[in-house]
Amino acid sequence: MEGVLRAQALGYGAGRNAPPRPADRLREPVAPASCDAAAGRPGEREPFGVPAEQEGGSFVYPFSAQEFGRVRELIYREAGIALAPGKKDMVYGRLARRVRARQLDCFADYLALVERGDRQELEQFINALTTNMTSFFREPHHFGILAEHLERQRGRSISIWSCAASSGEEPYSIAMTALEALGSSPPVRILATDIDTGVLAKARAGIYPLDQLQKLPPQQLKRFFLKGEGKNAGLARIREELRRLVSFRRLNLLEEGWPMTGRFDFIFCRNVMIYFDKKTQHELLGRMAARLNPGGLLFVGHSESFHSARELFRICGNTVYALKG
Ligand SMILES: C[S@@+](CC[C@H](N)C(=O)[O-])C[C@H]1O[C@@H](n2cnc3c(N)ncnc32)[C@H](O)[C@@H]1O
Repeated sequence: MEGVLRAQALGYGAGRNAPPRPADRLREPVAPASCDAAAGRPGEREPFGVPAEQEGGSFVYPFSAQEFGRVRELIYREAGIALAPGKKDMVYGRLARRVRARQLDCFADYLALVERGDRQELEQFINALTTNMTSFFREPHHFGILAEHLERQRGRSISIWSCAASSGEEPYSIAMTALEALGSSPPVRILATDIDTGVLAKARAGIYPLDQLQKLPPQQLKRFFLKGEGKNAGLARIREELRRLVSFRRLNLLEEGWPMTGRFDFIFCRNVMIYFDKKTQHELLGRMAARLNPGGLLFVGHSESFHSARELFRICGNTVYALKG
């Protein structure tokens, strides 16, 4: 493979305004307690059995059940993510670095900051609590189905939405499928959105460790990636041919009035609904149905099934739904 990766400025989604807060999600904020009042000085004790974690070797932050409850309320209200009660240790691990980054002594002060409406920290709070696991051609049967449909619709302009795109592997897999099915410069536009500005920056950069690409066949690697050399050894950057098919935007699925105009032929909504409760899932499925063209397809994750949306969609393959009517 040829090509040398050059350092490129990472486009960083500035982040949209905060999502609206649906009335039914609003709750009275819990009165913030100071470090001293809430749980003692850091390191003094280990409340509620949270394992002592040596943060940078020197800090241990108290994290009470009440503070964990506030995190659950906030992330549910802001991103729709329904954190299970058993995730307290995971949340501690993910947010302790934000407490440290803000040079605070405890979670009580950190949560007060986020609850007071510090927009920048709210963005970091959300970024820290999302789970971004993804890979190229994850759930590969979807891409075979997509290729068949693209070939059948050859000649038409096609619009595709990857609505929880994470670090870009999913929308770039869609773009590779389109290029392979339709040849170079296909009339395909892919909108890739996510709530997490950190993963979107990675997606825009389109640079991946080679060991994440091991499962791709050599001809795909050669056609779609530039292998890094020198200080970029061990990395590969996606080629412009692929990059130009995809636009990245920050979008919180919960926000009302999604800003896109027009409808999509395919929506990839994979492995994100599992973080939402049934009510949110149902609302979102209705909104996605309204954004699909007649005959449009919705691809969902392997553990997601939406029997409650039977009036909108019919199942037409393994975790693939077609818009009814
Ligand atoms: C597990 S990843 C799935 C990535 C990809 N779709 C896949 O299946 O490989 C879930 C993604 O959903 C995003 N997410 C979580 N809540 C969201 C929300 N309210 N709006 C938009 N994206 C959200 C996360 O940031 C994360 O990148």
